[in-house]
Amino acid sequence: MNLLVTGGAGYIGSHTVRALQRAGYTVTVLDNLSSGHAEALPDGATLAQVDLLDYSAVKDTLARVRPDAIVHFAALIEVGESMKEPARYYRNNVTGSLNLLQANAETVKAPIVFSSTAAVYGDAQSTPIPEDAPKAPTSVYGETKLMTEHMLNAFDRAHGIRHIKLRYFNVCGAQPGGQIGEDHPNKTHLIELALLTALGQREKMMIFGEDYPTPDGTCIRDYIHVADLADAHVLAVKALLDGAPSNAYNVGLGHGFSVRQVLDAVDDVLGTPLKREIAPRRAGDPPSLVADSHRIQQELHWTPQFTDLREIIRTAWDWHRTHPHGFKS
Ligand code: UFG
Repeated sequence: MNLLVTGGAGYIGSHTVRALQRAGYTVTVLDNLSSGHAEALPDGATLAQVDLLDYSAVKDTLARVRPDAIVHFAALIEVGESMKEPARYYRNNVTGSLNLLQANAETVKAPIVFSSTAAVYGDAQSTPIPEDAPKAPTSVYGETKLMTEHMLNAFDRAHGIRHIKLRYFNVCGAQPGGQIGEDHPNKTHLIELALLTALGQREKMMIFGEDYPTPDGTCIRDYIHVADLADAHVLAVKALLDGAPSNAYNVGLGHGFSVRQVLDAVDDVLGTPLKREIAPRRAGDPPSLVADSHRIQQELHWTPQFTDLREIIRTAWDWHRTHPHGFKS
């Protein structure tokens, strides 16, 4: 079976490409390499260096590869940046996805696994958050993902193209063995930044806001290991290829940690405390995002292997300490 993975040279994409190959799929990666790394691709994965904004190149790639299913990661991913540069986010994430959906509808009509996000829920009314909770993104990033979800629904209704939306919570960690891991051009993720601080690349950790309505005043997130998320994609692809109807699944562990608790866990793993400073809130951050992930556990039989935050941080630390400058190390 042939798969097309957009954004497969990125952090989550490159872990998922490996998991898909292990499951026996042949993978072509469509990536413009604006933030991904060709070095992150495993042997056997073919790269089509194409931008989703180039409609005819996307269509040509689909017509040539003729995938049985598509996994769609390619997107800009930073909450804070999306508030400052909304046009870039709408153009890349919404128009890019629309091009992919339209080109797919005009060629192979392959089912799609879509990289969505907990950010579609915004300020959740109750927690853990079930999939049918109201969607009220607090960031442009979350809005672009919700708009793409709506487009997927419309393409299912109009063209019968099925999809699975995976709404990721906070993805972290690295493949055990330390060969691939997080390496974004702009570093914004809490655990990655903390570990780069430990390597001396930052002076201190900033805590963005301590006046949130949470027990210690800092934001709460549900941190999930990237290898477990990659497995969720394999299960979603299999389900679609077996004829499953369109659906949405949260992917998280169901318990949250505050920014302070994450930094405490990082200190434990490092065996030494990192310097911290309180900074103002970051625009677009909801106070708490914790997944109710019963649906994916029951329906797709997803079972996360990494349930201990310190263990997850340890896998990330193995990557960063052996690759202090990412793939350029
Ligand atoms: N944070 C800090 N200091 C930092 C970096 C982050 O206090 O130096 C805080 C943030 O304000 C936030 C929390 O740590 O409260 C987590 O921030 P991240 O940037 O690591 O992750 P986000 O929650 O902003 O976003 C991530 C993904 C999104 C996804 C979201 C879903 O980047 O794509 O998780 O929960 F939508």
